[in-house]
Amino acid sequence: MDDRRFSLMVHGGAGTLDDARQRAMGDAWRAAIGTVLAHGRRLLERGDCAVEVVEACVMLLEDDPLFNAGRGSVLNEAGAVEMDAAIMDGRDLAAGAVAGVHHLPNPVALASRLLRDNGPVMLVGEGAMRFAAQCGITQVSDDYFLLAERLAQLEQARAGQTTMLDHVEAAPADETGKYGTVGAVARDIHGHLAAATSTGGLVNKRLGRVGDSPLIGAGVYADDETCAVSATGHGEDFMRCVIAKTIADHVDMQGLDARQATRAGMDYLLRRVRGRGGVIVIDHHGNCASGFTTRNMIHGWIEHGAEAVVRL
Ligand code: GLY
Repeated sequence: MDDRRFSLMVHGGAGTLDDARQRAMGDAWRAAIGTVLAHGRRLLERGDCAVEVVEACVMLLEDDPLFNAGRGSVLNEAGAVEMDAAIMDGRDLAAGAVAGVHHLPNPVALASRLLRDNGPVMLVGEGAMRFAAQCGITQVSDDYFLLAERLAQLEQARAGQTTMLDHVEAAPADETGKYGTVGAVARDIHGHLAAATSTGGLVNKRLGRVGDSPLIGAGVYADDETCAVSATGHGEDFMRCVIAKTIADHVDMQGLDARQATRAGMDYLLRRVRGRGGVIVIDHHGNCASGFTTRNMIHGWIEHGAEAVVRL
């Protein structure tokens, strides 16, 4: 039986947004998250499946240069874009993931294509790009991605001989800045869950480095029996804690709701690896929760069809 009280959450990265940054960017971030939630609401109200909705929401975030995914992706040590994305359908645990892809405006669309193809769950690098060409997915030139801000960030990171988070003012030592990744989780009116995550990774990251975002169970997870999770943060921490599946296991094995399971997951992340970042979670009853070990996370939600809420 349909429960028309759908739920939706989206995020655009976690970190420490200082006052100046909030003043400069806060309205734009709020508006962007609000626009994505409004679009997702329209799709969910007309009965679209959760997996279609999270893909559509993540594509909007990938199209927005404000966020470190798709068009706004940061640059690696070679001055190139390498993106990761994944999507999962809670109905049957179908999943698709791509890593180290380039020239694609919407990596999540390629991950979604893998999900629907029912073959390999994950493709990387040139194999993924060949699959994109076979699927007729549009590719774009470097100009689409090489934004002045991203080039400046790379120069700054190179000068400091470090990797950086995704904003010019980012300073890894004190976490000023934002861990860029985007994601969405949804419960549709049919009671099904889905999750999707997409990222450009870290500024000046090592060529070939893959974070948590495309790893099923780390940066993304969805199971109708438990919950849907999308993560953002320092990928290595999230990979080592298999954080998305850990949260789902708390729902499954301890009967926790979204809020309790999210708190348990964040406690584990902090206790075991002092992990930095956050998650958005919707449980199988449509309850929404967010948790982050950073000072801020750019996110928003619609719980049980209610008014949208946006938080920075
Ligand atoms: N969480 C995104 C990354 O570490 O690449």
